[in-house]
Amino acid sequence: MMVARKASTTPRTTSVTPATPSLTTKADDMTTSTQKTAPRINVVGTGYLGATHAAAMAEMGFEVIGVDTDPAKVASLSAGQVPFFEPGLPELLIKHVKSGRLRFTTDIAEATALSDVHFICVGTPQQRGSNAANTAYVEAATLAVARNLSHDGVIVGKSTVPVGTGAKLRSLIAGELPEGISAELVWNPEFLREGKAVADTLTPDRIVMGGTSDASEAILREVYAKPISTGTPVVVTDLPTAELVKVSANAFLATKISFINAIAEICEAAGADVSVLADALGHDIRIGRQFLNAGLGFGGGCLPKDIRALMHRSSELGAYSAASLLQQVDEINMLQRQRVIDLALEACGGSILNRRIGVLGAAFKPDTDDVRDSPALNVAAALHLRGAQVVVFDPEANDTARRSYPTLSYADSMAEAVAGTDVVLVLTEWPEFINGDARQLAESAGNPYVIDARNCLDASAWREAGWTVRGLGRASAVVAPAGASIRGIAPARKEFVAA
Ligand code: UDX
Repeated sequence: MMVARKASTTPRTTSVTPATPSLTTKADDMTTSTQKTAPRINVVGTGYLGATHAAAMAEMGFEVIGVDTDPAKVASLSAGQVPFFEPGLPELLIKHVKSGRLRFTTDIAEATALSDVHFICVGTPQQRGSNAANTAYVEAATLAVARNLSHDGVIVGKSTVPVGTGAKLRSLIAGELPEGISAELVWNPEFLREGKAVADTLTPDRIVMGGTSDASEAILREVYAKPISTGTPVVVTDLPTAELVKVSANAFLATKISFINAIAEICEAAGADVSVLADALGHDIRIGRQFLNAGLGFGGGCLPKDIRALMHRSSELGAYSAASLLQQVDEINMLQRQRVIDLALEACGGSILNRRIGVLGAAFKPDTDDVRDSPALNVAAALHLRGAQVVVFDPEANDTARRSYPTLSYADSMAEAVAGTDVVLVLTEWPEFINGDARQLAESAGNPYVIDARNCLDASAWREAGWTVRGLGRASAVVAPAGASIRGIAPARKEFVAA
């Protein structure tokens, strides 16, 4: 839908100063050449989503400007430094900052005036005191783009938003466009995963275009020409469907995880093994094996807040079945954290006061340093609050974790975190932990008892090495080394101890 601004009584003036010789204004283009030029890209918001999208767009051959309100982030990205851990992104950033195809600014007016396609990539965090998503940043970014357009453009929402946001934004920008300028607002949700963000952006599973006219669909097809040429499916739909695709995808993934965690509870009660069960389920292509890893459950900056926002929006729209389903998914997920806390208490004979607990993992999943709503840190903090001496180690997230939880102790290595412990908790399945030397670690642990809350360790190898291994949803939930007693510990529930 093209939104055109009626004549304004106070025309805005926008000064356009190209910062690099390669970036010219649309007006320059028109006077110097009648040839069609590639659309120039503006990416508003340079977090995980925006920084990756900007670098990927440059890799696809476009001139890109990334905008952020945070000068430190802009300075860091401009110097070719990614301010968070994302495999493959530093290389792409350096390559395109050097080539001059990618640059960053805090000046949204400049970035907007110089560009044709404006991607909105800012965050939609959970509102304080509510399950609803906070769309204030999306509104502010979209309005800022609309106000600073120097020529007609397409504003493309990529942020994850409650259904109905796009329609609201369309009416908001209608009153903000400079005189004589038209802009189309469409939605093109992003499905990237942290840790795999570069590959997910360069070769996405699908491209969804919501609310596009023929003209804006053509522009988006030009922008995504590379992945489309390699067979990436394109779904063209209306605005609300595009908005809902994203949150529904995340809700489905969250539901899959909570489903397998609910089944894990039955497995434990019945003496079955949830990992083998998940493998068997996964062979059914209608189900698939991914997102069926039972354990500590989901966290991060997306799944938890997105299902809560959808729950909230479902209730607002009177779709109560979806709201109650998601409530259950959320509850099962949060219970997993409590379950692991209970297991730690059990491992320490009922009290963790002054017990030394080694926590392996702080990030919400491997291959990231993101600790937003991290189940690992949540458990670590809860144990600390109950009087345990908690020592955390994460290969990448020690620094981000320290910023959020400065009162916890942090080790510089897995060995340091394990040394002298009463119990070790594996809370993030980093390869470093999976490949750790179980024998050496057993010798340095005060009591070699490990709670594998991600079911990622080779339990029999760790048992061979002298560990008592506690998994979630597995047959012989506690596997003690053959013939060994659990040193210094009186397990509260002996029936879990395998002979
Ligand atoms: C998610 C979506 O996957 C992505 O498409 C969307 O764009 C953003 O949200 P991300 O937050 O990066 O991506 O994490 P994801 O890989 O989905 O993992 C989310 C959480 O689920 C992690 O805490 C992970 O440990 C947990 N998880 C995942 C499980 O507990 N079990 C599994 O089987 C899979």
